[in-house]
Amino acid sequence: MIIDLTISNLDLINKLEKQFPYFFLSENQIINDIGYNVFSKYFIYVEESNIIGFVNYFDIYDRFEIANIFVEDIYRNKKIGSKMLEHLIMLGEKKNIKNITLEVKKDNFAAINLYKKYYFEIVAIRKQYYQGIDGLLMERKMM
Ligand SMILES: CC(C)(COP(=O)(O)OP(=O)(O)OC[C@H]1O[C@@H](n2cnc3c(N)ncnc32)[C@H](O)[C@@H]1OP(=O)(O)O)[C@@H](O)C(=O)NCCC(=O)NCCS
Repeated sequence: MIIDLTISNLDLINKLEKQFPYFFLSENQIINDIGYNVFSKYFIYVEESNIIGFVNYFDIYDRFEIANIFVEDIYRNKKIGSKMLEHLIMLGEKKNIKNITLEVKKDNFAAINLYKKYYFEIVAIRKQYYQGIDGLLMERKMM
């Protein structure tokens, strides 16, 4: 089940921050993000009350930018990343956005294949962006 996080989901926000501490700078980062950054949005993938994946994206007027998409190791290759990306695309369709963009390490084949499956294309290469590894800017046009 996918749940869009709002500031009222405090229990789930705390759970997400505790479960993925390496992603978040502080315990209250998501609360601050959702509360004060109107562009920053989160949704989570929950199975049997466990959070097994999440997406953080920026909803910037007529476009979305994916900041993070993550599925717990043991749940990978079970189409959860696909379901979350489909959810994001559906949200974008509802809002009539123009495109979704993201940045990915050139050697992150799992993520690149996932994005390509959903019609993201490489539109720019950021040389040596990740400590010697190129970053790929990918875009999915929505219109
Ligand atoms: C990228 C990630 C979110 C994919 O999630 P997932 O639930 O395993 O993905 P899915 O099962 O929905 O797979 C969808 C497609 O992705 C591609 N894919 C997924 N894992 C792959 C792998 N290990 N190698 C190559 N392609 C892979 C395939 O094209 C797959 O389609 P297919 O099953 O029809 O072949 C997951 O691997 C992850 O959390 N990685 C660590 C975080 C990360 O790198 N995020 C991206 C940052 S830009």
